[in-house]
Amino acid sequence: MVSNRPLAIAVLGLRLHISLMWGGTLAAKLNHPIPTLHRFPVAPYLSPNIAMDNSTPAIYFQDLEKRFGSLSVLNGVNGQINRGEVVSIIGPSGCGKSTLLRCFNHLETINGGQLLVDGMDLAKPNLTRKQLLGLRAKVGMVFQQFNLFPHMTVLGNLTLAPRKVLGQAAKESSRMARFYLDKVGLGEKADSYPDQLSGGQKQRVAIARALCMQPDIMLFDEPTSALDPELVGEVLMVMKQLAEEGMTMVVVTHEMQFAKEVGDRVLFLNQGRVEEEGDAREVLSSPRSDRLRTFLSRMSGTLA
Ligand SMILES: Nc1ncnc2c1ncn2[C@@H]1O[C@H](COP(=O)(O)OP(=O)(O)OP(=O)(O)O)[C@@H](O)[C@H]1O
Ligand SMILES: [Mg+2]
Repeated sequence: MVSNRPLAIAVLGLRLHISLMWGGTLAAKLNHPIPTLHRFPVAPYLSPNIAMDNSTPAIYFQDLEKRFGSLSVLNGVNGQINRGEVVSIIGPSGCGKSTLLRCFNHLETINGGQLLVDGMDLAKPNLTRKQLLGLRAKVGMVFQQFNLFPHMTVLGNLTLAPRKVLGQAAKESSRMARFYLDKVGLGEKADSYPDQLSGGQKQRVAIARALCMQPDIMLFDEPTSALDPELVGEVLMVMKQLAEEGMTMVVVTHEMQFAKEVGDRVLFLNQGRVEEEGDAREVLSSPRSDRLRTFLSRMSGTLA
């Protein structure tokens, strides 16, 4: 048990700090598509409770509640994320977007309601460590900030979780890491250390690291908010590519253009509830509620 602690911490660290940011030359280097997902086999024993049934939603949540002490953040949130869908979550600052996303990955435990992620019931108390590792192998999380392990090479960063969580052999994990590094145009940086990379390169390494886990579902928390405007298009392109590869994606974003271009659907979260949801272009072009109209007006820099 004690010897497993460093592994659990490393895995959690990876999951907590994976970020999405791309370097400036990526567009030119991504002439070939992101590799098809599931190319590499995943150890089935890692996800004993996960039903890989494509007819069930990737994520289903009903009357979801989350409190921090006396602060009620999610007050009965309902919805579902279908497989292969790209769903954007928008809403005012502090309305609970990140919290909802973190519930999907069990980084936050819920206080009420139902939450099924890839078939796993996250409302159940006492999930085992094995179940949690299985969940986190299937549900990737990408944050605004990246956090590579500074004492490890790029290759070391990319191969750690696949070896420890997916049980891949060193040779196989290296092969996969190089494959994804090539895809993000950083094949020559495998032996570099993070502090030898530019910010953009570090960000691309972080993406490759997320892809190395071959997740079924990717959660993105404001993936473009720290990017220079000229890099946003490259992120959209890559995320669209991921969607075309069949990736199920939930994207928290403040960028309405991003939600419109990448999202199939939008959930507008307000005061801990889904206030409006529907087709991304429809919802963002013709909001039904006054609150969403006001929110969108503020986002576009004008007052409603
Ligand atoms: N670990 C925590 N402990 C206590 N309160 C928390 C915790 N995490 C979040 N909160 C509170 O929950 C509320 C929702 O936070 P959350 O980060 O989900 O908002 P958000 O919609 O993502 O906002 P933003 O757009 O600014 O990122 C906030 O009031 C926040 O202060
Ligand atoms: Mg947030």
